[in-house]
Amino acid sequence: MRWILFFVTLIGSSICSREKFFGDQVFRINVRNGDEVSKLTQLVNSDNFKLNFWSSPSALGRPVDVLVPSISLQPVKSFLKSQGLEYSVTIDDLQALLDNEDEEMQYNEGQERSNNTFNYGAYHTLEAIYQEMDNIATDFPDLVSRVKIGQSFENRPMYVLKFSTGGEQRPAIWLNAGIHSREWISQATAIWTARKIVSDYGEEPAVASILEKVDIFLLPVANPDGYVYTHTRNRLWRKTRSLNPGSRCVGTDPNRNWNASFAGEGSSDNPCSEVYHGPHAHSEVEVKSVVDFIQKHGNFKCFIDLHSYSQLLMYPYGYTVKKAPDAEELDDVARHAAAALASLLGTKYQVGPTCTTVYPASGSSIDWAYDNGIKYAFTFELRDTGHYGFLLPANQIIPTAEETWLGLKTIMEHVRDNLY
Ligand SMILES: *[C@@H]1O[C@H](CO)[C@@H](O)[C@H](O)[C@H]1NC(C)=O
Ligand SMILES: *[C@@H]1O[C@H](CO)[C@@H](O)[C@H](O)[C@H]1NC(C)=O
Ligand SMILES: [Zn+2]
Repeated sequence: MRWILFFVTLIGSSICSREKFFGDQVFRINVRNGDEVSKLTQLVNSDNFKLNFWSSPSALGRPVDVLVPSISLQPVKSFLKSQGLEYSVTIDDLQALLDNEDEEMQYNEGQERSNNTFNYGAYHTLEAIYQEMDNIATDFPDLVSRVKIGQSFENRPMYVLKFSTGGEQRPAIWLNAGIHSREWISQATAIWTARKIVSDYGEEPAVASILEKVDIFLLPVANPDGYVYTHTRNRLWRKTRSLNPGSRCVGTDPNRNWNASFAGEGSSDNPCSEVYHGPHAHSEVEVKSVVDFIQKHGNFKCFIDLHSYSQLLMYPYGYTVKKAPDAEELDDVARHAAAALASLLGTKYQVGPTCTTVYPASGSSIDWAYDNGIKYAFTFELRDTGHYGFLLPANQIIPTAEETWLGLKTIMEHVRDNLY
């Protein structure tokens, strides 16, 4: 009996072939000056320790989180010590967090199957998210439609939900999530937000008044191949899954691939890098599909990209320290949004332009949007500040989504009242 159960579990589990991280840890390394930045940059560029950086070193003094494989723990500790770099261990048993997450997901899948519901407080597969998008569109046919905007590199459909109360082409807001596949709280927040919009419409005057003036397009999974890969192969996959001729490394960073100072500072021309910009701007079909859709539509006024983690609300530019012409207004809107977000549970967000808040990043989505006439361009880095990092427990999905909604609503109301 036990053996039968064992095999059933093995077959039933889609994660049995996923990469394991036994004994691996996440270190937080303090960075206090340019000298320390260059030491860490050497570490980023060296292949020796098989490190996976969860954030890039920059001169701004933000600490850097890095995944250290168990075999490298001692050598990395020695290296850090010899270089006088301070660090602490933020996650001391990465695999335990992953196991927890898997168990919760599988338990929830069983619950959902038996009572035919979608639990917004759980993480889901791509298939389940797409099914729920379909359900929302079916439940509210006068308000929502599911639109296919393209196909991923591995031929998965890319779906957006269009929320609209008017037949004519209204000014529009683009809500993007999951461009980095491992940032699961972003896809989860996006699908929660879809349900929130339809349930608040008719209940809450704010939503109706926004939709009276603008349409909302929501893309919950901007990198479907990467997302599937995080479920089946490696939970910490960030990039797309496109092949790089001549390299054993797969994928491009889809948030360095936009035509905004493409291949500039804060991106890499090495296909093995986590911030590889790709062979040319819009080389990634997932990016190109969004670009084509937005350009064809021609009337987007706002572009919001949801990421995790760090609790930041940022606006252009990422590719230069130069101030965006609308920086003052954007800063003001972002501060109000961050205050609204914090009003629910006290979650603090830092606000500022990308380049001088986290690090230089060229080829990013919001810089492209901004340089193409979409003034209200913002990036959210959702919870947390590194305690769980990308592995935010599912019991934080709903609080995160609820507080984020207050920030999103503040921005959308500003757009509604300041159409240009
Ligand atoms: C349905 O499933 C959810 C979890 O997805 C659970 O919280 C709830 O208790 C279940 N309801 C019933 C009636 O079983
Ligand atoms: C990128 O933008 C420039 C103008 O800034 C344009 O000339 C070029 O064709 C664009 N490239 C792509 C791939 O869209
Ligand atoms: Zn991201």
